Amino acid sequence: MKLKRVAFEPMNQVHDKEMIILEKLLNELNENKDITNTLEEFIDDVKEHFSFEEDLMQKYQFFAYLPHKMEHDRILNELNNLRGKTNKEIKQYLNEQFIPWLNQHIDTMDTVTAGFFNMVNAK
Ligand SMILES: [Fe+2]
Ligand SMILES: [Fe+2]
Repeated sequence: MKLKRVAFEPMNQVHDKEMIILEKLLNELNENKDITNTLEEFIDDVKEHFSFEEDLMQKYQFFAYLPHKMEHDRILNELNNLRGKTNKEIKQYLNEQFIPWLNQHIDTMDTVTAGFFNMVNAK
C-alpha cells in the first residue's frame, strides 16, 4: 500500500511503520487467524501515531490543531469498537473505512500539518 509522502520526514516514518503493522493484520485476517494480539498492536500504534502529531501541533501551536485532533479521536473511537467483532467485520471496516480514510487524511490534514512543521523546523 503506497501512502503519499508529506513534507515532514518523521511523519512519513510513523506512517510507514503503521503500514507494516496494518499489512500484518490484513494478512492474518486473510488467513482467518486469531488476530487479538495484532489488533491491539495496531490500535496502540495508531494511538502513538496520532499522539505524535498532536503533541507537535500543541508544541508549535498549529492553528488547525482542534479539527485535526477531532478526526483522530473519531477514528480511534471506531478502532476501539472493533474489539469483539468478527474477522470478517474487521476486514470490511479496514478495507472500506480505515484505509480510504487514512489515505484521504494524509492527503489533506497531514499534508497541511507537515508543511507547517517543516516551515517552523519542528523537532
Ligand atoms: Fe498521520
Ligand atoms: Fe493526522
